[in-house]
Formats: sequence, structure tokens, C-alpha cells
Amino acid sequence: MDRVLIVDDEKGMRDLLSILLKKEGYAVAAAESAEKAREHVGRGDLDLVICDISMPGASGLEVLKQSKASNPETPVIMITAYASTESAVEALKLGAYDYLIKPFDVEEMKIVVRNALEKRRLEHENRALKRELKEKFHAQELVGESPRMEEVMALVAKIAPTNSTVLISGESGTGKELVARAIHAGSPRQSRPFVSINCGALPDELLESELFGHTRGSFTGALTAKKGLFEVADGGTIFLDEIGDTSPAMQIKLLRVLQERRIRRVGGTEEAEVNVRVLAATNQDLEQMVRDRRFREDLYYRINVIQIRMPALREKPEDIPRLALHFLVKYSRVMGKKIARISEEAMRRLEEHAWPGNVRELENVIERAVALENSDAVTTESLSREVRSGARPSPEFPVSLSDGGIDLETQLERLRQHFMEEAMRRAHGVQTKAAELLGMSFRSFRYFAKKYNLLDPRREPRAGVG
Ligand SMILES: Nc1ncnc2c1ncn2[C@@H]1O[C@H](COP(=O)(O)OP(=O)(O)OP(=O)(O)O)[C@@H](O)[C@H]1O
Ligand SMILES: [Mg+2]
Repeated sequence: MDRVLIVDDEKGMRDLLSILLKKEGYAVAAAESAEKAREHVGRGDLDLVICDISMPGASGLEVLKQSKASNPETPVIMITAYASTESAVEALKLGAYDYLIKPFDVEEMKIVVRNALEKRRLEHENRALKRELKEKFHAQELVGESPRMEEVMALVAKIAPTNSTVLISGESGTGKELVARAIHAGSPRQSRPFVSINCGALPDELLESELFGHTRGSFTGALTAKKGLFEVADGGTIFLDEIGDTSPAMQIKLLRVLQERRIRRVGGTEEAEVNVRVLAATNQDLEQMVRDRRFREDLYYRINVIQIRMPALREKPEDIPRLALHFLVKYSRVMGKKIARISEEAMRRLEEHAWPGNVRELENVIERAVALENSDAVTTESLSREVRSGARPSPEFPVSLSDGGIDLETQLERLRQHFMEEAMRRAHGVQTKAAELLGMSFRSFRYFAKKYNLLDPRREPRAGVG
């Protein structure tokens, strides 16, 4: 039952609202002043407060402030006399849900109350859901708060509970397997097995018997019958890693399982039904492979029901510090070291590196740094050479005149372009920040950025807008 507190100095109004709200099924308490209301509000367990603004003693705005302080989620509806709408506006600024002007319509009050409680309930559910999601992702240690990663996480959350086949694509080391595990962990299959197999690592015959099992004596060396991974994963999830590396013969076999959800052991005659969710990953461009006829189109459509594209690390540089610290904590613990920081200079190098090996490369760099470091912070000295030297060497600029002289304008232009590019990288593409780093006005920054083609079209306002 929702608990409602009514605060009004007029007994008539308190009684009217009490009767009305009790009839609506709420548990009602009433207070005749802000002072008396304090005790109720302080407990922080109210679902709704209805409060008159002008009362002798402290005003209703005090009750509002107190309620917001003790439980910001509790909606507060203000009642005001016609003459004091100014304080009603003030109340909205302080976080009141709505206000009603006396004399109000009883039906109107009912609706406002219902809406306020409904909104509170939705917000509450939303928060609980978010918390639950965070915990789930935390268990999987999927780190990232960049927009690209938030998109990935939202999609994972949405599809995890379903049985849909998912294709996870992305460069090597971007976290494809981690996401596959997160999908499994967020599904009703979580207590059943998650089985992962690298389809590119085995020759056809072995892969087939790994996936589907074999009967005794089905080939030389098959001394006993063996369950395949599809059977092992029954009720759970199978993760077909590097699916782009499978041979045409294997592709037909996989297509059959996906279509019929039945398997036959190598050498066997009987078919068995399997209840397995299939997740697949690839770091190749399967669409292109389909066009080149290196990957079956029908299999592609079976797998690509939902696709999650994992961003490369260079596409989400804002996640680098968070990931670096995540791995720092992980490896300090593993190696029993007390390294809690990354020096500013070292962090800058990490942020500037291009990370062709993506998150896995970053993880390796931090692991190595933790192993090598003797101080209490990761410094540039313990970073690997590629990271330390920066992926982009500085261009050469002449600092003295050669015999033939120089074209000063051209050199200045080159210098400006060089610094603007670097500023854009440091500012992660935020133009105002980059301009600030260079002491340039935003107008002139824009002018030259367009000239040098430095603007990311995805961040630019669409034509016709702005
Ligand atoms: N968002 C992330 N948060 C924390 N760790 C991550 C994240 N992304 C990747 N990792 C870590 O990086 C390493 C590589 O991730 P994973 O094995 O999932 O990548 P992959 O895309 O499957 O790579 P490959 O294509 O080479 O198989 C793992 O140790 C993983 O835990
Ligand atoms: Mg992988």
C-alpha cells in the first residue's frame, strides 16, 4: 500500500484529502504544520507528500526541501492559494512534482496523485534494473562507459534473455568472447554450460567430432564413443569462435544444425535433438566473404540474426584510462604488488597509442608494466617501446634557414595542422576543448579544421541543422 502524507494547516482540507485518498486505497497520515511533518518526512519511507505552501510557521517549501533531502525519490505535490503561484514556481524549481491551485477539483487531485506514484514506481524499477545490469556486467568485468560500449551493453541486456542467435563481429582483442559470456550470463541458460570452440584451430575431421561427437570405432583412434560439444552444451550456450575460418564442408554441417537443431555423431546413424543457443564470432568481414563466395550466404543469414559490432579501442579512446586502471588493479593483485597509480605521462602515452591489438594489447602492456615496475606507480619506463615512443612520430620542421630559403607560410601551415591534429586526438574529437588547448578561438579553429579535413563527419551536425 502506498503511504501518503498530507500537510495542511486547515483541518477541513486535511480531512477532505484523507477521506479521498483512503478511498483510493492509500495509507494516509496527516500533519498540521511543517514542524509536525518533519518527523514523518525524516523517516524517509513515504511514497508521496501533498503539502500546502502557505502555513503559519515554516512554509510548505521547508517540507519540500526536507522531503527531497531525506528521500529524493518521493514525489511532492504542492497546494497553493491562487494568489501565490510565484511560490509554486519556486516549489517546482526545488523539485516539486506538480502543484494544484485551490480550490481544486477532486478528480484532478486523484489523477495527479496517481501519475506521481506511477512515475515514482517506474523510476524505481528503472533504477533497480540498471543496478542489476551493472552487477551482471561487473561479474563479467566488461568495462567501459563510452557511448559505443554503452550501446553494446544495452544491446546485450536486451537480447541476452532471448534465444536468438547472435553474431559478434570485431577486430581481434576487442572483447568478443567476453560479450558472448555476458550474453550467456544474462540468459535463463546461465546455470547450464557455456562451451566455447575455436572453429579455425582444428582440421575438419577433428572439428566435426569435437562439435558433434563420434561413435566408437568411427575412425582410427576413436576407441570409445564421445559426446560432442553441442551435446555438452545442451540447455546452455555454444560459442563458435572464428566462424569465418570454417571450410565449405563444415559450413554445410553447421547450417544443418542451425536449421534443424539436431545432430548426428560422426559414424553414427541416429540423430539427437539439442537445445543449444548459438553465439558466433568473427574478426573477418563475413559480408564481404559472402560476396566473394567464401562463406555460405544461407549460413550467414542463419547466424546474423542479431549482430553486435565490437568497437576497436581506437574508436573509444575515452575508455582507455578506465580499462588501464581495471587491468592495473587486476595484475597488481595477481602479482601481489602495491601499484595503485599510472603516472600522468604514462597515461597520456596510453591514450595516444593506436592499439592495433585493441583491449588485449592494452591488457598485455599493463600486465608487463606491473611486472617490471618497482615504484608505486606505472611510469613510462615500464611501458613497452611501441607505446612509449607513441605510434605517430612527430614530423620534422625546419628551425633554421637552408641555403635556398624556406616558404614560411607553407611551414607555418604544416605546423598548425600538426598541432591541431594532436589537439583533436587529445581532446577526443571535442572541438571546443581542442581549440582551448591551442589558445585558438572556436571560430578560427573551425575554419582551419575544415580546411585540413579534421572533422569527424559522425560528430558533425547533419546538413540543414545548426
Ligand atoms: N570491455 C572490456 N572490459 C574488460 N576487459 C576486456 C574488455 N574487452 C576486452 N577485454 C579483455 O581483453 C582480452 C581480449 O578479449 P576477448 O578474448 O574477449 O577478445 P576477442 O574479441 O575474442 O579477441 P580475438 O578475436 O583475438 O579472439 C580479454 O582478456 C578480455 O577480458
Ligand atoms: Mg576471441
